[in-house]
Amino acid sequence: MAKMKTQIGIVGAGPAGLTLAHLLHLEGIESVVLERQSREYVETRVRAGVLEQGTVDVLCGSGVGERLKREGLEHGGVELRFGGKGHRIDFQELVGKSITVYAQQEVVKDLIAARLAYGAPLYFEAEATGLKDYDRDPKIYFQLGGECHEISCDFIAGCDGFHGICRPALPGEQLEIHERHYPFGWLGILARVPPASHELIYSYHERGFALLSMRSPEVSRLYLQCAADEDLNHWSDDRIWGELRTRMATRDGFVLRDGPILQKGITPMRAFVASPMQFGKLFLLGDAAHIVPPTGAKGLNLAVADVRVLAQGFVEFYKRASSRALARFSDRCLERVWKCQRFSGWMTSMLHRFPQEDAFAHHLHLAELDYVTCSRAASTTLAENYVGLPFDSRGRF
Ligand code: FAD
Ligand code: DHB
Repeated sequence: MAKMKTQIGIVGAGPAGLTLAHLLHLEGIESVVLERQSREYVETRVRAGVLEQGTVDVLCGSGVGERLKREGLEHGGVELRFGGKGHRIDFQELVGKSITVYAQQEVVKDLIAARLAYGAPLYFEAEATGLKDYDRDPKIYFQLGGECHEISCDFIAGCDGFHGICRPALPGEQLEIHERHYPFGWLGILARVPPASHELIYSYHERGFALLSMRSPEVSRLYLQCAADEDLNHWSDDRIWGELRTRMATRDGFVLRDGPILQKGITPMRAFVASPMQFGKLFLLGDAAHIVPPTGAKGLNLAVADVRVLAQGFVEFYKRASSRALARFSDRCLERVWKCQRFSGWMTSMLHRFPQEDAFAHHLHLAELDYVTCSRAASTTLAENYVGLPFDSRGRF
């Protein structure tokens, strides 16, 4: 068995693992990143698209934001659409911040290119198969090219997403799991057609939720609320466009042009929190520790927020010989995680139709949306959560 040694062993090269490895590199802290998929796979996996300003600041401030600044689409607001009419929430006016639309796989590409350019270890098709002694003398075992390898490290960062191996390696009886399943999912498409609006539209309709987003001036990203166990085979391209048009229609004749669908998929909706997010020398970050329903566009941003806290903890550990910040990792992250769960859950309930809802419930949705878009206080609440809360409850960081 081939053996290697590093300071931080990182499992997973999604946004969490790659951002952590990059911030550590800038501080002179060594890490090895393992990714079970191929480079091509992670660079083309279609997922998130909305970056909070804090996430943009981390990427640009660490020197990997050149393309993001050039190609990212900065938006100063979003539209909430209901009752056949659109209402803009003006982030800039309400809270003086914006969001940036830039695909997750582009963030991943930029981080991979940076890491390979400075020659730091990043292994693709390298599947972590087991962890050992994570409370004293951590080791990660992984398979690469048909052989088993071992990494000894000071700490393990579990950035291996919801289906990874790090969370299941923790003692189940000491891990609290909080979980909620939603009785619907999202059918998402990527289509080669200019976006029908220059900002995102979150649309509530009696037939269910629809979302218009984009990836570039030529490519649209659209989502439809669907059944939790929806069969994609029942959704022809024509049916998808027809349903999107119905749910996004306005009284003044909004036009949604169709175009070739480049990719389609169904995402189940769940909320999940594992607590605490650290055991001994093993830390969980991003989707490995928590999942939010996507309506608040928070998943990737929460992963980057966890990374900021852990990177700061490692800097204090290696440069100032203090474990204090590391010991507070879980508490600091969970504070933000629960606020994002609250916001994402609220956006989800407000904008989706739940099974067996009656006309009364429909009117409550409309009344809530009307309140949120008419009251400056309520619009401000939405805006400050959507653009991203400060990095801790006292507004520091
Ligand atoms: P992941 O991206 O899941 O990365 C984990 C990595 O670990 C993967 O590459 C995986 O292959 C690897 N891995 C797993 N097991 C192993 C192993 N044993 N060994 C080695 N490697 C392993 N979030 C937002 O902020 N904004 C949005 O607009 C948004 N929209 C979304 C839309 C959709 C359709 C979906 C599905 C998600 C969306 N999200 C959004 C959520 C966001 O994509 C995730 O929260 C984000 O990917 C989390 O990053 P991560 O690095 O924690 O995990
Ligand atoms: C996108 C995804 C989201 O979950 C969301 O709330 C907004 C936009 C997107 O993929 O563009």
